[in-house]
Amino acid sequence: MGDEMKQREKIVFMETADFSGRVDLKRYDRVFVLVDENTQDYCYPLLQQQGVLPDQVLMITGPQGEPMKTLTSATALWETLTEKGATRNSCLLVLGGGLLCDLGAFTASLFKRGMDFMLIPTTLLAQVDASIGGKNGVNFSHIKNHIGCFRLPEQVLIHPAFLSTLPRRIFLSGISEMLKHGLIADYGYFQSLVSLPEFTPEALTPFIFSSVQIKLKITKVDPKEKNYRKALNFGHSIGHALESWSNEAGKTALLHGEAVALGLLAELWLSGQCLGMSPEPAAELKRVLPRLVPDFSFSPSDLDALLWYVFQDKKNVADDIYMALLKNPEETVPAFRVEKEWVSKAFLYLSHYLTTEKKG
Ligand SMILES: NC(=O)c1ccc[n+]([C@@H]2O[C@H](COP(=O)([O-])OP(=O)(O)OC[C@H]3O[C@@H](n4cnc5c(N)ncnc54)[C@H](O)[C@@H]3O)[C@@H](O)[C@H]2O)c1
Ligand SMILES: [Zn+2]
Repeated sequence: MGDEMKQREKIVFMETADFSGRVDLKRYDRVFVLVDENTQDYCYPLLQQQGVLPDQVLMITGPQGEPMKTLTSATALWETLTEKGATRNSCLLVLGGGLLCDLGAFTASLFKRGMDFMLIPTTLLAQVDASIGGKNGVNFSHIKNHIGCFRLPEQVLIHPAFLSTLPRRIFLSGISEMLKHGLIADYGYFQSLVSLPEFTPEALTPFIFSSVQIKLKITKVDPKEKNYRKALNFGHSIGHALESWSNEAGKTALLHGEAVALGLLAELWLSGQCLGMSPEPAAELKRVLPRLVPDFSFSPSDLDALLWYVFQDKKNVADDIYMALLKNPEETVPAFRVEKEWVSKAFLYLSHYLTTEKKG
C-alpha cells in the first residue's frame, strides 16, 4: 500500500459557507482551480467572496459530460498546467461534480508523478461518493474508469449549499449511491431514505454525513479494494454495463446514478437467486425507483451487448464474472462468482420490470 493511502483522509463538512480558515492554500507556489462552465458560474463566486483563494489564482476550465472523461481531456489539462508553470509545489483545487473530481484527481496524481489536489464536490453524487476514498480515473475504449489510480486528496470540503443550483435529474442521480450505502452497511438508513416523502436538497442534507461516514469506514479498512471495499460496487456490475451501453450513440443515455439505481434492483434480485437474500429490500427500492430513473428500456436482443460490458468489469478474474452481492442487508459477499446465465437472467428480470411494473 502506498504511503499516500495510509494517511488520514481530511474531510471537512461545511455547515456554513465559511471556507476561510478551513483551507490553507498559502503553502503552495501556485493554485489552479479546475471548474467547468456550470461550477464557474454557480460555485466559484462563493469561494471568491470567502477570500479563500490566493490573489494569483489560475482558472482552468475543464470539460463536461461523460464522453469527455478521457485521456485526451487529461492531456489537455497536463498541457495547460505545463504552460501555466505548475510545479510539484502547486495545488489543483477541483470544484465540480464526480466527473471533474475523477478527472482532476487523475490529472494531478500523474502530473510530475503527483501534485497535491483538493476536492470541493458540487453534486450530491460527488459529495457522498466520488470525492471520498481516493479512486480516480478516466474512461477508455468505452469502458468506464478503465485507466486510473488510487491517490487521496489533501482535503475534501463538503458544502451542501452547492446542491441548490443542480438540475433536478443530476441532483437525484446521487441518491442511488446513498441507497447503496444503506443496503451494504446500515439498513435503517436505507429505510429512512426510501421513506422520505420528497427528495430535496434540504431533506437530503442530514443524510450526506452518514453516507460519507459509511464510505470512509469501508475505504479505510480496505483502501485498495483487495476485498471488503468491493462491497461498494454493489449495483455497479450491472449498473456500469447499463451506463456504458446506454451512452453509445443513438441511445437514451443514463446518468451514472440512474444506471446504478437499476443495477441495485437487478443485483438485489441476483442476491436473492444466488444467496437467498429476502425480497423486501427490492420491494422497498421499487417505491422510489420511478422517481430516480427516467423512461428507459432495453430488449432481450440487447443482451449480448450488455453482457460484453459486464465482462469488462474490473472485479472479474480471468473469464469469470465476480460481483459484490448481498446475503442479507448489511452482509455483503464482496466477490461472488456469478454464472453468465444468471447475469443474463438478471438483465431479463430488469427489462421486464422496466417495461411492465415501472411503467404501470
Ligand atoms: N471516484 C469515485 O469513487 C466515484 C464514485 C462515484 C462516481 N464517480 C464518477 O462520478 C461521475 C458522475 O458525477 P456527477 O453525477 O457528479 O456528474 P458530473 O460531474 O458529470 O456533473 C453533472 C453536471 O452537473 C453540473 N454541476 C456540477 N455541480 C453543479 C452545481 N453545484 N450547480 C449546477 N450545476 C452543477 C456539471 O457542470 C455537469 O454538467 C462519473 O464519471 C462517475 O464515474 C466516481
Ligand atoms: Zn457509483
